[in-house]
Amino acid sequence: MTHGSASDDVVRRLLAGAVADAAGRLAEPDAAAFVLRAQRWLPDALRPLEALYGDRVDVAELVRDLLDDAVGLVAERSDELRALDRQRESDPDWFQESRMVGYVCYVDRFAGTLTAMRSHLDYLAELGTTYLHLMPVLAPREGESDGGYAVADYDAVDPRIGVIGDLTALASDLHRRGIALCVDLVLNHTAREHPWAQRALAGDPRFRDFYLVYPDRLMPDAFEATLPEIFPGLAPGSFTHVEGLGWVWTTFREFQWDLNYANPDVFRAMLRTMLTLANRGADILRLDAAPFLWKRLGTDCQDQPETHLLLQAFRAMLSVAAPGVLLKAEAMVAPDILTRYLGDHGEYCRECDLAYDNQLMVMLWSMLATGTSDLARQALTRRPAAPRSTSWVTYVRGHDDIGWAVADADAAAVGLDGPAHRRFLSEFYDGTVPGSFAEGDVFQASPTGASPISGTTASLCGVGIALEAQDEVALDLALSRLEALYSVVFSFGGIPLVYMGDELALRNDPAWADEPGHGHDNRWVHRPRMDWAAAERRNQEGTAESRVFATMKVLAAARGELSALRSDASSTVLDLGVPGLLAYVRGAEDGSGLLALVDIGGNGQVVGFDILRSAGFDVPAIAVVGRHTASVADDAVHLRPYGFAWLPLPRD
Ligand code: GLC
Repeated sequence: MTHGSASDDVVRRLLAGAVADAAGRLAEPDAAAFVLRAQRWLPDALRPLEALYGDRVDVAELVRDLLDDAVGLVAERSDELRALDRQRESDPDWFQESRMVGYVCYVDRFAGTLTAMRSHLDYLAELGTTYLHLMPVLAPREGESDGGYAVADYDAVDPRIGVIGDLTALASDLHRRGIALCVDLVLNHTAREHPWAQRALAGDPRFRDFYLVYPDRLMPDAFEATLPEIFPGLAPGSFTHVEGLGWVWTTFREFQWDLNYANPDVFRAMLRTMLTLANRGADILRLDAAPFLWKRLGTDCQDQPETHLLLQAFRAMLSVAAPGVLLKAEAMVAPDILTRYLGDHGEYCRECDLAYDNQLMVMLWSMLATGTSDLARQALTRRPAAPRSTSWVTYVRGHDDIGWAVADADAAAVGLDGPAHRRFLSEFYDGTVPGSFAEGDVFQASPTGASPISGTTASLCGVGIALEAQDEVALDLALSRLEALYSVVFSFGGIPLVYMGDELALRNDPAWADEPGHGHDNRWVHRPRMDWAAAERRNQEGTAESRVFATMKVLAAARGELSALRSDASSTVLDLGVPGLLAYVRGAEDGSGLLALVDIGGNGQVVGFDILRSAGFDVPAIAVVGRHTASVADDAVHLRPYGFAWLPLPRD
């Protein structure tokens, strides 16, 4: 074949090879199913692979190798996982259901080990969890490992939490309970201790080409002219000098070596890693730092077109070998371009299935700080919607710092100055702004003043300050803020994630710096160890824990009953002319709808039926969700300070 042309003939020949190979190595009906899937998805893999590697290798040969790996891994896939594949193939929207509720935790900090994790599944089920994201589980380098994001061995789990068999056993338990397992796949870089890096260091040219290595500062300087600093305080610059090798590309920390995706062997190795993780029971792969995969001189080396081609090729190959598995993009990019990771490229091109809704998260915190919803309405209305067959994951808080992603254009549209507002948010949440209730810490001070912030949801909502002051009223307000934010995350559109500890209003970890290797990374302040004594208090009436936990349970249960809260139902933010009110409507294909009202200003609201009628709503037979947060009387919905209400709308 000529390099660079995806002719039907190539596909036909590849398929013929795949048929023969599958027939020889898989039993029926899996062989036939494999061939059908290859027929369906191979062209989607071939197109990006040709664009990426057509001038470097014979792409037909590359795909033959990928198929060969894939058949081998399918042969090893358990019956249980194959059954899940089949189920999800016939119900490809399974993850859009409103019963989906996520929980995110570190295995060691939540339970100790993977095996111990299995004894906490009732706790997760009590909360309504149907999706469990375990923070990095694969074997990291020893010592400091950026919270596990410096992987030394993709084939082993972190020895401190168990062995591979424990992960598979946990995955089976989860599947039996109808819970999907999400694990991190760090694909932009490996630890410098990873065998690939070690072989590069030992002088093996094949593995040297797995990384981006330069003999002198010429290219690093040229790249750095346009590269932003990711961790300016922790690890300045994007290159690290390594004795005996040269300047190695290290976007994040000096021990995290960026992989060279211009090398097709890297693609092949990472695809094997993905399929191996899928065989171990992962249902969702969180693709860490997805925008960084491809580098181009003269750019910020993020979100390059080739990055999307890589993701499309991974998606297509995964569909051939493990079709039930989803890809989730961790892409902290501007909202205008975020939907590209969900395949929105003008025309839809299947890419990741899920992506973090960073914009909603930032807008939640912005609304809470200003007490107004106009910026959020502007930003969430202007940004492109997630393509129909994909979904956001929505969250209040994650394990990283909060970066103030407010677009200047959105700020200007509501009369704000973008840079000044971003600075304000940072200063509000680090507690500098007079009257702030927040107890956050600056993570890596930015010269613009718009520094990212660390801190748990509860501490950023004012729980700590209220408790210290023994101020019951302030505590009630602080907990109401947390509940209000979660009410949005559970209903705005996407799979809601509960970040470990938020269900108990856990505060900043005062001892975060004490653990070896954590001292200079204050993101650990919001990665507390699970407080099981606090968890017990969820059963004790009158405690903060029982209140917040109960609210989360109500949100999860109510969500599960409402098809208008499916992830693929549309979301429209309304302007009801009340600045302290956030109002949005969800609409599902079955004609059901839901109006959500949230008092984001904290002063309480009376939303008269007349306002709802003038906005075109037939005043519904109202069912209010949210303990003590709202009531209906005198032709109006009454919201307590930071109260929320979900109002199912009559069908058309
Ligand atoms: C992602 C992770 C973050 C990590 C970085 C490098 O952004 O969320 O915690 O530091 O990637 O792997």
